[in-house]
Amino acid sequence: TVQTKRYVWKAADVVNHWPLRSADSHKGSHGKVGIIAGSETMPGAAALTAGATVNAGAGLTIVNTPRAVIPTVAAHVAEATYFARDDKIESFYENKDGIAIGPGIGFDAKGRETLAALVDHFEGPLIVDADGLHVLADMLENVQEREHPLIITPHPGEMAMLIDETPGEVNRRRFEVAETFAREHGVYVVLKGPCTIVAAPSGETWINDTGNAGLAKGGSGDVLTGMILAFVARYEGMQPAISTAVYLHGYSADQLYEQGMPLETMTASEIVKVMPDTFRAVG
Ligand code: APR
Ligand code: MG
Repeated sequence: TVQTKRYVWKAADVVNHWPLRSADSHKGSHGKVGIIAGSETMPGAAALTAGATVNAGAGLTIVNTPRAVIPTVAAHVAEATYFARDDKIESFYENKDGIAIGPGIGFDAKGRETLAALVDHFEGPLIVDADGLHVLADMLENVQEREHPLIITPHPGEMAMLIDETPGEVNRRRFEVAETFAREHGVYVVLKGPCTIVAAPSGETWINDTGNAGLAKGGSGDVLTGMILAFVARYEGMQPAISTAVYLHGYSADQLYEQGMPLETMTASEIVKVMPDTFRAVG
């Protein structure tokens, strides 16, 4: 058997990898990122992902969503710019420091074509989440051949789909499942749930201990994807960026709870809004 190394990503690790914002920086210094999210029935997924990316410090956020959905999403995220989904994907992915695809995109042929183009040609960190994972399941050979970082963010059900197992089995063997998939496919696996695991292609894993059950509500995964995107776009090392984003996402939920927000009424939008308090407390 392969020797594995498992660690906890601690507050001190987060501080040691804190993103710097030098006085002479400009928006290009902090990541120009793309988000492919949302559809007519799921505009909120795009708004939550983009809102999280903006609040987590990204310099420029460009959202790819169906043309008819743009006004809805833009009403929630004034800081982002927009790209109509039917336009040529090449002009979307060129010059980006990171791209996230998946939240609320559905399962159409356009999504399949777009994801295949990104896996094969996008030369930066690519995050695949939610509906994007179902599409990715059919292109794992392309994944193996990809030379640039690929990060997947499955919840246990999505992980189970990827390896043709049951969610119960994934939860029973969380470390082993994440480590094996990361090593075999050469990707970073963010296996979500209480104590999210980040597994690197090396097989090493980092466990997260922030977060609470207030996050167990639709939309909080989209916020995590946005935060990871903002961090991977401007870090050299992928794992510190991912683990730091996971830590801050959970810490935001803990922060809300400490401020008096009951777990029942916690929302993904509130997680985005409390991020200034999180950054002030942690950084
Ligand atoms: N404790 C700590 N963190 C938790 C807990 C918990 N009890 N429950 C959930 N979380 C965190 C996870 O670690 C993850 O970061 O909340 C986030 C939930 O992410 P997802 O499961 O992806 O949820 P989300 O995408 O927001 O909503 C569910 O996913 O399966 C699809 O289509 C389905 O629309 C649905 C969507
Ligand atoms: Mg999700």
